[in-house]
Amino acid sequence: MNYRTQVAIVGAGPAGLLLAHLLRLEGVESVVLETRTREEIEATLRAGVLEQGTVNILNETGVGERMMREGAVHHGIYLRFAGRTRRIDLAGLTGGRSIMVYAQHEVIKDLVKVRLDAGAPIEFGVKDVTLQDLDTDAPKVRYRHAGGELRELACDFVAGCDGFHGVSRPAMPSRRRSEFTRTYPFGWLGVLVQAPPSTDELIYAHHERGFALVSTRSPQIQRLYVQCDPEDRIEHWSDDRIWEELRARLATVDGWQMKEGRIFQKGIVAMRSFVVEPMQYGRLYLAGDAAHIVPPTGAKGLNLAVADVRVLARALKAHYQDKRGDLLAQYSATALRRVWRAEHFSWWMTSMLHRFHDDSPFQHRLQLAELDYVTSSKAKATTLAENYVGLPLD
Ligand code: FAD
Ligand code: DHB
Repeated sequence: MNYRTQVAIVGAGPAGLLLAHLLRLEGVESVVLETRTREEIEATLRAGVLEQGTVNILNETGVGERMMREGAVHHGIYLRFAGRTRRIDLAGLTGGRSIMVYAQHEVIKDLVKVRLDAGAPIEFGVKDVTLQDLDTDAPKVRYRHAGGELRELACDFVAGCDGFHGVSRPAMPSRRRSEFTRTYPFGWLGVLVQAPPSTDELIYAHHERGFALVSTRSPQIQRLYVQCDPEDRIEHWSDDRIWEELRARLATVDGWQMKEGRIFQKGIVAMRSFVVEPMQYGRLYLAGDAAHIVPPTGAKGLNLAVADVRVLARALKAHYQDKRGDLLAQYSATALRRVWRAEHFSWWMTSMLHRFHDDSPFQHRLQLAELDYVTSSKAKATTLAENYVGLPLD
């Protein structure tokens, strides 16, 4: 079957689904193609922190209702180091901005539902996706439909929203792109626990045994992370070992106690920083993890994907409604400015809070000095706060 749309969107992660939603509200047609099933994308555990700007977009476009009901607004975070806990007053330092703790897969469910309710096209379980004729005015996406049939989707533009391992970025000729990478010598082991919250706000903990993070999902379910070897196998981490590390890394001089419970999900993620420049080739525009990766310490990955597609949706709207090409021409430069700011912030938070295997006692002391400064200087605390809640969207 051959058919046509205005924008072919490859990938139904937060970037692809939100782009499709924003375009539909502006009267621009799109088709979303996703290799995984709906059940798989709605069950994949990932990020949990939404910036104020992300929350605003979801609310303004009518998909924020469940988030406002079930998510938790946090006005600060805690930094824990040397056994003491100090609060960063996000709202107080940023003129009232805050964050929302609401899981990425819940955002995915809300966006899939709104698309299906509108009867707008989205295909799950597609295979063998290839991008053709990207350097012409008539690009195409070929793929195998879940039922086995080969299909060709002709379009005006392709949005590459297929994540770090997708086909979009490699479809750009290598001589036309530059890639910037840093791999970290550690990963995060994340668990979901059936327990009440141990804290009213997230705790980012620096410890000589490695970083730990206490986050939440609901009054009954908590999300906890510990720094680990990225090559380590999850079978090496018994529940007892996980609790032992969490207890040690989160211990305080005042005897704070974590609420423990049944661990019902665990997994390890590696950490890297990555950017491709430019984020465009011919009629292909990359957004989200297809173009950049940040280590999770700054909670920026999902939020950057949202910021990208907002810029892209505006540029596509200007193209279709006002016959203006300037915003599309500037897309990569506009998006990359925010991307590099988030790259720096995520690298900085990661460097300040993790144990590196070649750490010397000197570097350890430098981290403690920096954490002391971040939590006692209003100027430095404001730097952390305004980046964490997210710089205002353009
Ligand atoms: P994705 O969410 O990766 O979506 C891409 C979609 O494209 C996927 O559904 C994929 O199946 C689909 N796809 C791939 N190839 C094709 C193809 N050829 N054709 C069609 N579809 C395709 N960020 C944080 O801030 N905090 C965290 O704790 C955190 N944890 C993470 C854990 C993991 C395991 C990973 C991988 C990322 C994590 N992130 C985290 C980052 C955050 O989740 C991502 O930045 C965010 O998902 C980016 O959204 P996206 O839409 O760009 O890409
Ligand atoms: C969560 C993930 C993050 O990367 C982070 O910095 C804070 C919270 C979470 O999954 O809740």
